[in-house]
Amino acid sequence: MQGKKKGVIPHKPEPEIIKMLKGSAHGFVSGQALSSALGISRTAIWKHIKRLRDAGYGISAQPSKGYRLDETKKRPFNVWEVSLLLTTDFIGRSLHFYQSISSTNAIAFELGRNGCVEGAVVIADGQTKGKGRLGRVWASPRGVNLYTSIVLRPGIQPQNATQLTFLAAVAAAETVKVFTRKPPEVKWPNDILIDGRKAAGILLEMDTESDRVNFVVVGIGVNLNMRRDDLPELIKKTAVSLFDKTGVEVDRAEFGARLYSIFEKWYKIYCKDGFPPVLDEWKGYFGGAGKPVKISSVGASIEGVCMGVDADGALLVRVASGKVERVLSGDVVAGG
Ligand code: BTN
Repeated sequence: MQGKKKGVIPHKPEPEIIKMLKGSAHGFVSGQALSSALGISRTAIWKHIKRLRDAGYGISAQPSKGYRLDETKKRPFNVWEVSLLLTTDFIGRSLHFYQSISSTNAIAFELGRNGCVEGAVVIADGQTKGKGRLGRVWASPRGVNLYTSIVLRPGIQPQNATQLTFLAAVAAAETVKVFTRKPPEVKWPNDILIDGRKAAGILLEMDTESDRVNFVVVGIGVNLNMRRDDLPELIKKTAVSLFDKTGVEVDRAEFGARLYSIFEKWYKIYCKDGFPPVLDEWKGYFGGAGKPVKISSVGASIEGVCMGVDADGALLVRVASGKVERVLSGDVVAGG
């Protein structure tokens, strides 16, 4: 794990201007106040205000008073909004925001290959080729959900990399809990369910070199504000968004920033104390123990009663013969 990378996000005045405008109790902030606080000319301030307006911010200007953020206009989702809210040491301090890309995992993988810092984050407003587990497609319409990938360099062996999917599930579940005020359930190994429907999924991809993990990309997709009617037919019965459950729009920048902070907290615990505390936490969200379960994996399926998970996170299934089988990978198609 690397330490804090100060200044990885190039200092740009826009986030500072947004912050000052948001923080102004009496609405307007004078051009002079902005100019002195940021150490740039009033003409430069004007140029940055124009840039903010072009990016979708409603900012009104009055010659005698200065600038004011129009609070009735929905704030755009962009790199400035996310970076303003970051409280992390290293996750997201190198932040790559895209309006529309193929897949945040694909871009993060490229960054990893090109030697990016640990904790580099890719985030997108929409994906055109969102990837799900087992070669599936992840529905990624623009403007509603969170699609993000984190690059990690944990210095572990490839067989332990799945531990990070449990960690990601714990972080995603805890963040969902913050926004819905109700703990979600995890379906083994890392689907996040609200009332039995999938609200978030995790896709881990890694690059290995001589039995060591070079880097891992943890991709997290969370259905935040997608409306029922917008769900693709195929997943209408099985997916859900936080909005569906609460009737409240989730601020995506706030959700992302909170997710990175919670993820970092658990990653630090993992780097210090290993997998056990992460798995213990994961068990608190797991509702499958004691229930019937069916898992399908390449060319085979296994059915029985779920006996929980072992110390490696493998699913324990008591089959008809009474024997307890360890399942290391697969897709839980019923129960679990
Ligand atoms: C699953 O099938 O449950 C995993 C879904 C993972 C989706 C996320 S969205 C952000 C990241 N980029 C991708 O292409 N996939 C992951």
